[in-house]
Amino acid sequence: MKALLSGLLEWTDARFPLSKLWNEHVAQYFAPKNFNFWYFFGSLALLMLVLQILSGIWLAMYYKPDAEEAFRSVEFIMREVEWGWLIRYMHSTGASFFFIVVYLHMYRGVMYGSFKKPRELIWILGVLIYLCLMAEAFFGYLLPWGQMSYWGAQVIISLFGALPFIGEPLALWIRGDFVVSDATLNRFYSLHVVALPLLLLALVVAHIQALHEVGSNNPDGVEIKKKKDAAGIPMDGIPFHPYYTVKDLMGAAVCLFLFAFVLFLVPEFGGWFLEAANFEPADPLKTPEHILPVWYFTPYYAILRAIPDKLTGVIAMGAAVAIFLFLPWIDRHPVKSIRYRSLLFKFLLIFFAITFVVLGYLGTQPPTAGRAELGLRLGEAYFAFFLVLWWYSRERSAGSTWTLLAVLAIVFAVVDAIRWDPDKAALMALSALLPLIYFGLFLVGPLVSPRLNASREVPERVT
Ligand code: HEM
Repeated sequence: MKALLSGLLEWTDARFPLSKLWNEHVAQYFAPKNFNFWYFFGSLALLMLVLQILSGIWLAMYYKPDAEEAFRSVEFIMREVEWGWLIRYMHSTGASFFFIVVYLHMYRGVMYGSFKKPRELIWILGVLIYLCLMAEAFFGYLLPWGQMSYWGAQVIISLFGALPFIGEPLALWIRGDFVVSDATLNRFYSLHVVALPLLLLALVVAHIQALHEVGSNNPDGVEIKKKKDAAGIPMDGIPFHPYYTVKDLMGAAVCLFLFAFVLFLVPEFGGWFLEAANFEPADPLKTPEHILPVWYFTPYYAILRAIPDKLTGVIAMGAAVAIFLFLPWIDRHPVKSIRYRSLLFKFLLIFFAITFVVLGYLGTQPPTAGRAELGLRLGEAYFAFFLVLWWYSRERSAGSTWTLLAVLAIVFAVVDAIRWDPDKAALMALSALLPLIYFGLFLVGPLVSPRLNASREVPERVT
């Protein structure tokens, strides 16, 4: 048997570089020996991608992309098709799990400076994957043709209408009709099941190819390729197989356990993964009381909603996503890993995570004056994170920082003057404390105590 298999491998290798690919990308890919649990999320993202594709293929066998049939075909899958409920929930709960994994994967990248030279392209490909994933989730959400599918799509597509000159024709072009209709459903189906998965797969292959070209970063942010032994092997590297294949299997087991827990016990996760309104068929004549996107879009939705002017809101929302593309040029600090970076960086990053989560929560709640005000201030804090990161990623003189503060004070005063509303004076005054504390802590803080912005020495070898 062994002889037969090695003969088959030899035959294949003479015609296709199977062993070469395996060695290059797995058996002789030397990864840093100090990966921690944050390094599980790349392979977990791959796992979720495979699960989404497989469950999607089975759903497509029964789903009908027709405005008259779509809702009923999903009900049929849930009630009549054997194990159909499981496949459907795997796909809908899987979408949320995918985003959880990808958000943690991105956060790891920011923590350890994995977007910095020479990994800028890995990061940019990652952001393109993220954009593609968002589009994939948006198109997919229309397919069950429930109330939230229909009205969510209506609201998001109408945002394009806010763009000057091209807005309305563009919205019409996307819908293929004057309202969301059968034509929209058909094109979203085609994009969701063919175009975007292909693009996603191509981007993931490029992402990993780029990673294997330069090698992985690690929790110390030390380049292991700089210290090689006589055989040319990084001294702090270990072969990906078997060390990390086994480690990643453990990560996959824990992830699948959590996934199964949610899938079997709380698949809709209290309306966070599948909203109640989507169990009612789409009705173009009945607008739901609250139209909300799924949680993974809500931080951006909160930014959009907090800005009274529609076009400015759309631009701010787009900028909030697009800014990630420029991260390699925003954070130019020579120290990569959070382990050796300043206290300021650590606080900034923790506060950014809190901002993102609270914005996400606000985006799921019905709007009130207080929530809109908090949303606006947190939106400002969202962008302020990138500004402070850029500012302090280089040496700055005290004078230039005071000048920046003066410019910021003027900008904030002008913005607040434009949106001044005497009925909300107390609320606005109270909320103004947020930027005051933010810039006081993160911009003035290092001027008062330079130790706050001092990084530690990075070791030569991984720890
Ligand atoms: C379908 C989604 C994705 C898949 C399947 C995927 C897959 C992977 C894999 C397998 C790795 C190597 C293992 C690891 O370092 O954890 C990796 C590394 C990396 N990914 Fe992703 N990724 C995805 C999305 C993203 C996104 C959205 C970003 C950022 C915006 C990103 C940025 C990075 C970076 C910077 C690295 C290098 C990390 C390092 O060496 O420290 N990835 N990715």
